[in-house]
Amino acid sequence: MELSPKLLKLSRLETGILHIMLARPEALNALNTELMDELQQVLLQAKEEPSVKAILLTGEGKAFCAGADIKQLAKLNGQTGLHFSRKGQNIFRALEQLGKPSLAAINGYALGGGCELAMAATLRIASTTAAFGQPEVKLGVIPGFGGTQRLSRLIGKGRALDLCLSGRVITAAEAYTWGLVSEVVETHDLLMRAKQILNTLTALPPRALQSMMTVIDQGYDLSLHDALELEAAHFGLCCATHDKEEGVKAFLEKRVAEFCGE
Ligand code: CAA
Repeated sequence: MELSPKLLKLSRLETGILHIMLARPEALNALNTELMDELQQVLLQAKEEPSVKAILLTGEGKAFCAGADIKQLAKLNGQTGLHFSRKGQNIFRALEQLGKPSLAAINGYALGGGCELAMAATLRIASTTAAFGQPEVKLGVIPGFGGTQRLSRLIGKGRALDLCLSGRVITAAEAYTWGLVSEVVETHDLLMRAKQILNTLTALPPRALQSMMTVIDQGYDLSLHDALELEAAHFGLCCATHDKEEGVKAFLEKRVAEFCGE
């Protein structure tokens, strides 16, 4: 990866994991245009680069991300607000549709756009000290980077309305109970656990993972009939891969499969 962003720290971990750390700790990693542009570039490159198999997202310091930059929000009017929202939505959608699994390891505040960024990742785990919320209402706006939609899809309409309307902050334990994160671990274990999960995924056949993410993402908004058609089409695609042949053969021969990604 040749990019050298200023507000993100990039590192390559074992087994093709690209670690993207939001690195604006003095502003609790708030999302300004510069940071969002950098994230967009990095994601674009990660999508194209075959050696990148998965993305790990973290925040430097005590927050994962405290949301959109409020200093920048202060300057938005009706027109620029619309563009700002679309910009964030497009970048987060690119993460969601990357075709490679991503995991947000949430170490502290994930508020507003920070919670929205985490929700665009494929998976989310949190440390016991993490806190989640959509406090935009207190600023006179609504979540604008996909929060109203992804939150209700993830935790249900009632709880999404509760969080968005009240602007209140919930603990990691509540976020787990509500299905917003899939695991809560001690702070010192967070990174290790995140890598463990991603390492498990990068050892699996990437085409099957990609099909799975596509079908679950796109199928959600289709009729059951059309979603099942989509599932069948991708099942067929997977059946035509070398990795399916190898996975089934390895099972029958009682050995560990060696997937090649084809
Ligand atoms: N934008 C810009 N700066 C931010 C920020 C944000 N979202 N959140 C925190 N900061 C800055 C603070 O201004 C402060 O900077 P200074 O030291 O220069 O004053 C620094 O980060 C540290 O923050 P605090 O001193 O406030 O830290 P704290 O521990 O006392 O409080 C907090 C932490 C509860 C997260 C508090 O910072 C907070 O409430 N932040 C705002 C959260 C928020 O409202 N997010 C929604 C943003 S709008 C949005 O995201 C819209 C959208 O969906 C697109």
